[in-house]
Amino acid sequence: MNGLLEDKAVVVTGAGRGLGEAFAVHVARAGGAVVVNDIDAELAERTTENIRRFGGRAVASGHSVADPKQAQEIVDLCLAEFGAIDGLVNNAGLNYEALPWEDDFEQARELVEVNVLGVMYTGLAAIKAMVARGKPGSIVNISSGASLGQRKLGVYAASKGAVASLTYSWALDLEESGIRVNAVCPLAHTRMVWKSERSLRACPPDRTPSRIAPVVLFLLGSGSEGITGQMIRCNGPQLHVMGQPYLKQPILERPVWDTETVQRAFDEVFSAHLENYGLEKRVPPRLRKWTESTRTA
Ligand SMILES: NC(=O)c1ccc[n+]([C@@H]2O[C@H](COP(=O)([O-])OP(=O)(O)OC[C@H]3O[C@@H](n4cnc5c(N)ncnc54)[C@H](O)[C@@H]3O)[C@@H](O)[C@H]2O)c1
Repeated sequence: MNGLLEDKAVVVTGAGRGLGEAFAVHVARAGGAVVVNDIDAELAERTTENIRRFGGRAVASGHSVADPKQAQEIVDLCLAEFGAIDGLVNNAGLNYEALPWEDDFEQARELVEVNVLGVMYTGLAAIKAMVARGKPGSIVNISSGASLGQRKLGVYAASKGAVASLTYSWALDLEESGIRVNAVCPLAHTRMVWKSERSLRACPPDRTPSRIAPVVLFLLGSGSEGITGQMIRCNGPQLHVMGQPYLKQPILERPVWDTETVQRAFDEVFSAHLENYGLEKRVPPRLRKWTESTRTA
């Protein structure tokens, strides 16, 4: 796929290590010019030098996506160096595990500032430049399967759920401008995985970030024309589209709902329509007593 991104300028945030580094290197290999952003400026510089050593076009940015002024500066750097911005990979992110009753307000705020506001600030700055230029563009947000809900990952999961909602909403707003917005839910052996025993079990070392990069490249390139508003999951061997939340039937109607009629609705109708929840698809307790007694019968 060399030449896939020839003449394209792409910003990759959090590209000093892990998935972002792989995305930036692959964009450059495909002929694209890259802004290699990472709050760890030394790492951003290291990735940039690696790309240049192999003849690629890259410039380093040590800005923080969590600061609106700096997020604008990342996009401005792309415009100044390469004359345009055709693509953005909103990859910078933080995570940590905590049970809700042991979680820390400050840690939660810091995570949301990077994972949610960072995606918004950098995305809005890129969108403004793309819309003003009037040419097609592609935004790839990095979400996570955790957005479906995972134990000990409430704040992280919520931040990635926000990224999913942004993806659907921006895709709707930007379709007419020719700017596509999709999300990738990756699984790859990076620092983020090393920190968690559970993640390590699900993600052996051969699940390298380079195995996810082709999905991001595809979404940045013209081969994915007509694809927008999608969440694509890749964990190395598996590639699939994620289902999206929807308004589920039956939809009951009453002029006014009081607590009594809500109770009746759940007793008589919705008990059988409750959804298994979380990434692990846990059966809700009210249904479990039926599913478990069926199994032992
Ligand atoms: N590794 C996985 O299996 C996995 C799974 C699902 C989602 N993700 C997502 O993929 C993305 C990359 O994760 P990774 O596994 O490569 O993690 P990583 O920790 O290896 O890399 C994240 C990078 O983001 C940078 N960063 C943090 N805050 C920043 C800021 N304010 N401004 C700019 N850069 C900042 C860090 O310095 C780091 O280099 C994240 O959004 C993560 O949530 C990863």
